[in-house]
Amino acid sequence: MRILVTGGAGFIGSNFIRYVLSAHENWYVVNLDKLTYAGNLENLSDIAPDPRYTFVHGDIADKTLITQLLSANTFDAIANFAAESHVDRSIHDATPFIETNIQGTHVLLDAARAHGVKRFLQVSTDEVYGTLGSDEPPFTEHAPLAPNSPYAASKAAADLLARTYYHTFGLPVLITRCSNNYGPYQFPEKLIPLMITNALEGRPFPVYGDGLNIRDWIHVLDHCRALEAVLLGGVPGEVYNIGGSCELTNLEVVRSILQTLDLPESLITFVPDRPGHDRRYAIDASKIKAALGWKPQYRFQEWLPEVVRWYKEHREWWQRVKAGSYRQYYARQYEQRLNRNDFKRDVI
Ligand code: NAD
Ligand code: TYD
Repeated sequence: MRILVTGGAGFIGSNFIRYVLSAHENWYVVNLDKLTYAGNLENLSDIAPDPRYTFVHGDIADKTLITQLLSANTFDAIANFAAESHVDRSIHDATPFIETNIQGTHVLLDAARAHGVKRFLQVSTDEVYGTLGSDEPPFTEHAPLAPNSPYAASKAAADLLARTYYHTFGLPVLITRCSNNYGPYQFPEKLIPLMITNALEGRPFPVYGDGLNIRDWIHVLDHCRALEAVLLGGVPGEVYNIGGSCELTNLEVVRSILQTLDLPESLITFVPDRPGHDRRYAIDASKIKAALGWKPQYRFQEWLPEVVRWYKEHREWWQRVKAGSYRQYYARQYEQRLNRNDFKRDVI
């Protein structure tokens, strides 16, 4: 399998690349990433020397580059992780969300169609379904799309566009919608890594509103295993929901982190709520379980302490990320490697 992964220098993409290269000897990955604030080559520094891995610096919305890349290579699959992914940033400025999540996906779909790519995996989110009341059943794949943030709207638009490329042009599109991920290499603007790293710095935990919003947590490796299953066995044109069946309020999550680190609840600081804050997400993953035999393996209460330990042991990683200095640090390392011809440049 020769696969183009977009956004592979981010949280889930980097975990996915590490996972598939270790699980499949005969998989080759080209990682195309724009290296936005969320893209960090340090996330893959252990993978970089693998001859089955190539990094290309670029934007999925750059039609010329994407055309060059797909003309010079035959890819069996494209897995599109590239996105602006943080709800709070989309409230501040939706522009990059429209450019990357919608226009970028459109460029990729067109190129995949023109070059006869055999699988197009659109990595999406449960946030496209909007919010659930406390008594409502979890979202199935048939729930209406009702996004409430600019981020969710841009992902819903990309999903709908991808759907049309299947129905109109026969492009073998697969769409996955996953719940909230946690795990190593998550950018510390998201709830769990933000709280862990704040704790390790002795800073307060900013909880939005009353802290009773509910998210359905899944370990990133369970998400990666589900994406692998969909890539290998999913039916084109279908949507697959992925979730950990682990609904927790934000306060429950934050208290678990405090308990793991033996810290007092007085660190919790309630701050003004996020505008339009979705109350509850929950995923019904019966379809992927029945159709592809996938089920989550990592239990939150067991694995949260492991993830906390990972952040304790990778202090330099997140300190560089929080300070923003990882961008210069890794840009320098990248230039040196390019000069030593460590990266193969024959892919474009
Ligand atoms: P992330 O923000 O950590 O990483 C995004 C990556 O995409 C970064 O490496 C960034 O540099 C890259 N990127 C951004 N714009 C780009 C562009 N125009 N061209 C090429 N690369 C670009 O995000 P993540 O949490 O790893 O999420 C990955 C995907 O999974 C996203 O599509 C997101 O919507 C989806 N998702 C995330 C979650 C979650 O809990 N984090 C849950 C469900 C679905
Ligand atoms: P987040 O990690 O941003 O993911 P999403 O909004 O995509 O679900 O937030 C998870 C939950 O945590 C969400 O209900 C908002 C809340 N939250 C806080 O209470 N404080 C924070 O500082 C952050 C970043 C999130």
